[in-house]
Amino acid sequence: MKQTIARGTLWLFIWFAVLGCLHSITLEVRQGNSTCIKAELSVLLLITYNTSSNSTSVQVPLPNTTTVDAESSSCGGTPFLVATFGFGHTLGLSFSTNGSLYSVDTVTLQYNLSDSSIFPDANSSAVVTVVSSSVGIQAAINTTYRCVSATSVVVGGQIVTFSDTRLEAYMPGNDLSQTETICAADQASTPTPTTARTPVTPAPGPPGTPERGTYSIDNSNGTVCFLAQMGLQLNFSYVSQSQNKTVQEIFNLTPNLTSSSGSCEVNRATLVLSQNGTTSLNLTFTLNSTTNKYHLNGINMLANWADMEAPFSASNTSLDYLRTTLGRSYMCNAEQTLAVVPNFSLNTFRLQVQPFRVTTNQFATAEECQMDQDQMLIPLIVGAALSGLVLIILIAYLIGRKKSHAGYQTI
Ligand SMILES: *[C@@H]1O[C@H](CO)[C@@H](O)[C@H](O)[C@H]1NC(C)=O
Ligand SMILES: *[C@@H]1O[C@H](CO)[C@@H](O)[C@H](O)[C@H]1NC(C)=O
Ligand SMILES: *[C@@H]1O[C@H](CO)[C@@H](O)[C@H](O)[C@H]1NC(C)=O
Ligand SMILES: *[C@@H]1O[C@H](CO)[C@@H](O)[C@H](O)[C@H]1NC(C)=O
Ligand SMILES: *[C@@H]1O[C@H](CO)[C@@H](O)[C@H](O)[C@H]1NC(C)=O
Ligand SMILES: *[C@@H]1O[C@H](CO)[C@@H](O)[C@H](O)[C@H]1NC(C)=O
Ligand SMILES: *[C@@H]1O[C@H](CO)[C@@H](O)[C@H](O)[C@H]1NC(C)=O
Ligand SMILES: *[C@@H]1O[C@H](CO)[C@@H](O)[C@H](O)[C@H]1NC(C)=O
Ligand SMILES: *[C@@H]1O[C@H](CO)[C@@H](O)[C@H](O)[C@H]1NC(C)=O
Ligand SMILES: *[C@@H]1O[C@H](CO)[C@@H](O)[C@H](O)[C@H]1NC(C)=O
Ligand SMILES: *[C@@H]1O[C@H](CO)[C@@H](O)[C@H](O)[C@H]1NC(C)=O
Ligand SMILES: *[C@@H]1O[C@H](CO)[C@@H](O)[C@H](O)[C@H]1NC(C)=O
Repeated sequence: MKQTIARGTLWLFIWFAVLGCLHSITLEVRQGNSTCIKAELSVLLLITYNTSSNSTSVQVPLPNTTTVDAESSSCGGTPFLVATFGFGHTLGLSFSTNGSLYSVDTVTLQYNLSDSSIFPDANSSAVVTVVSSSVGIQAAINTTYRCVSATSVVVGGQIVTFSDTRLEAYMPGNDLSQTETICAADQASTPTPTTARTPVTPAPGPPGTPERGTYSIDNSNGTVCFLAQMGLQLNFSYVSQSQNKTVQEIFNLTPNLTSSSGSCEVNRATLVLSQNGTTSLNLTFTLNSTTNKYHLNGINMLANWADMEAPFSASNTSLDYLRTTLGRSYMCNAEQTLAVVPNFSLNTFRLQVQPFRVTTNQFATAEECQMDQDQMLIPLIVGAALSGLVLIILIAYLIGRKKSHAGYQTI
């Protein structure tokens, strides 16, 4: 009985967590009677932290109880919006303008690892602050920035995803301007509602091999610091609303509908791919500077499709794939399956990737995966076998000739 109640409460909690996740929050910064920043948006944080045994990730939606920290927020100079929730967690957005455009300059995330309701088993109790510079949220002055699609920003290795966003800074009035600046992601996706984008009809069969895309990340000085070419296929299961059951989905990323962003740090690089704002995939590589080897250690996937009973998310940050020497790229033409969690794996096709030390926008010499090497061996072995056969026939022929010559002589 107790267990049933506990389970019921848990489901209720999950239900509210999901609702909370989809729920928009409204934040306003005022000076006197006038509003200078207003934001209506949903925010999902993906935070990776260390426990005593390994590293783990949690997804934290900004709750409805999020409020504006009036002390730290400001209207003058650089307008600054600081949202605060729970035990000392904050999300800050600073703005700037050049007179015709305004933009979000930095995103600052502060989280309190001693809050065990969000970060169970954290081996630190520190309050961590991370800042990101390149954000890419900008709009014409006196217009509202609108972005229904999800936009991810990598903030010091953590990921902040905004969705259903309407916001404005340097406001001429106290309400969001009627005129809107629509973000690129919303313009790219077809104007049909979300329901039309994902098939509600029963699965149309496997989608075949995914198209190969080229993705890159630029440094702050405009040089490419991360380069990848690959076809990607997501294999995961979720509960379908229309079919009222768990379905296995094979989903190919379509390169020309996928936007890429991310961050390059000295020892860590993260590529963030986002398709239609409803599916996002993050790949994190880390460099071990002692061994001078890097590997893919983190894969994170988030999908929020109309047909899903609840948004799908999966994350594993203790992976060890695509291990390569620093200064080289990793290449695998053969299909590879990267298992992430039991209900999600990533299939890669014709992959080449270099997360560190990219020079002149080109891949360095590649280290090929074992499968490719094996496949190159097959023609070699066949060739060797064939030439062996030819040699044997030749020798047999020569011996035969010699024997028959010898035969004639004895007669
Ligand atoms: C704010 O509005 C109130 C009432 O409308 C008014 O009395 C007050 O003077 C205003 N304050 C400022 C700084 O404009
Ligand atoms: C986790 O621990 C590793 C060392 O094992 C360290 O490099 C990393 O910065 C830590 N991560 C966080 C989020 O504290
Ligand atoms: C936390 O754990 C990581 C490994 O997971 C370790 O490297 C780090 O030193 C630990 N930090 C503390 C404060 O114990
Ligand atoms: C961090 O959380 C702990 C408990 O969860 C709380 O006592 C502490 O005041 C918080 N720190 C800040 C800076 O809010
Ligand atoms: C503001 O920046 C945008 C883009 O960088 C540019 O097109 C525009 O001319 C700038 N406006 C002014 C007034 O400098
Ligand atoms: C923005 O609106 C304010 C108030 O309506 C006006 O004074 C200002 O000139 C406008 N700025 C631009 C760039 O249109
Ligand atoms: C760009 O910045 C990176 C590091 O941030 C540096 O390694 C590289 O040399 C810079 N490139 C140029 C052309 O300044
Ligand atoms: C997808 O994953 C399921 C379960 O792990 C597996 O049985 C199936 O073969 C996979 N399909 C593809 C195309 O990778
Ligand atoms: C979904 O399926 C479950 C059993 O699998 C059933 O109890 C429930 O009524 C179904 N819901 C709908 C809306 O069909
Ligand atoms: C994306 O690529 C596909 C196949 O190459 C093409 O049919 C489609 O028109 C492209 N869509 C856009 C928006 O460019
Ligand atoms: C780097 O690799 C060495 C040898 O495998 C290992 O002992 C060390 O813990 C690694 N360092 C990090 C930061 O993972
Ligand atoms: C994450 O990946 C590691 C290594 O492949 C695996 O042992 C572990 O079970 C995975 N974690 C989860 C939650 O599936």
